[in-house]
Amino acid sequence: MFATCLPGLAPLVRQQLDDLPGITATCDGFDGRADIVLFGAGRGHRDRALALRTAEDVFVEVGRADRVQADDPRRIAAAIWRPQPLQRALSIWAEQQHPLAASMTFRVITRVLSENTFLRTELRRQLTEAVRRDRRRWTVADPAELEIWACEYRRGRFVAGLRLTDVRMRQHGGRSLERPGALRPTLAAAMVGLAGKPPGVLLDPCCGSGTILAEALAAGWTATGLDIDPSAVAIARRNAAQASVHVGDAQRMSLPDASAAACVTNLPFGRQYRVRGETTSWLATVLREIARVTRPGGHVVLLAPEIPRAALPPSLRPTGVVPVRLLGINVTAWSYRRLSRSRALRP
Ligand SMILES: C[S@@+](CC[C@H](N)C(=O)[O-])C[C@H]1O[C@@H](n2cnc3c(N)ncnc32)[C@H](O)[C@@H]1O
Repeated sequence: MFATCLPGLAPLVRQQLDDLPGITATCDGFDGRADIVLFGAGRGHRDRALALRTAEDVFVEVGRADRVQADDPRRIAAAIWRPQPLQRALSIWAEQQHPLAASMTFRVITRVLSENTFLRTELRRQLTEAVRRDRRRWTVADPAELEIWACEYRRGRFVAGLRLTDVRMRQHGGRSLERPGALRPTLAAAMVGLAGKPPGVLLDPCCGSGTILAEALAAGWTATGLDIDPSAVAIARRNAAQASVHVGDAQRMSLPDASAAACVTNLPFGRQYRVRGETTSWLATVLREIARVTRPGGHVVLLAPEIPRAALPPSLRPTGVVPVRLLGINVTAWSYRRLSRSRALRP
């Protein structure tokens, strides 16, 4: 099987798959649009992979091909579309989707890392022809019942599969109310994953429409959100009904010291939201507040283009950086560990 995720998230998705019983991640790569993680899942364990909230889509593998054997779209299509693995993949697809019929609609999606020897569209044409020759009653349509993807996930190496998921997976069931600038749910899930494991309160002090809060609840946290905009609070309350959400200023939170086990937020530095005044001093004030309300040992995960060192209080120790590409824009998830007072004072 294989999963796609936002570029930059493959190491995290790979780790999360490996942590699931009966699943072993084997390899990862990038097909020019998405990161790809290949994995094996035993019978009875596939549903866990399909429930992974950091993946955009999950596929059952149909076949692989290598440019070293043949850098030719017709031969790559023939290597991918072989009867025996296909039969197995189709029966898994039927278990997850709906029973197969003699007449089905299908479409082929291809992604290549280089068009030096042939175009992506030529591979799509050849794979479509291979499917047509094999399944005479299947017809091409868009949208289609079956989506067949062939992705060059490393230079020269292709993996192809039938898509088992649909847009509902990426949207995690969908927000009941939308608000501009809302975070992609899979990225919110990844940030929550970087914050460690519950129990305790996970705080989002700039919660917007509540995407991080919803993912925190799904991961088993108690979720608390604040936003300076009352209309955001009303929306977050609808989208994350089990969370406690209030109007508040992240610069002056009315929360007790060390009351949150983790703090995860998407700071207002995007195209849609900006802060008033000078950014570094705003950030320094907010980070001091975040450090105050997060308990020692807790994780802090921030999505922002940059976190200048000058804005960081001594009690937040950097632990990692995950650069992610989201709709063509580079963003970064910055992780910190809240130190105890004595450790923060140590030179
Ligand atoms: C990038 S948006 C968050 C989007 C959110 N993750 C979502 O999925 O909808 C940043 C949010 O920070 C809020 N904000 C700006 N300044 C704030 C402050 N001083 N305190 C709390 N929230 C603030 C904005 O109202 C906005 O909702």
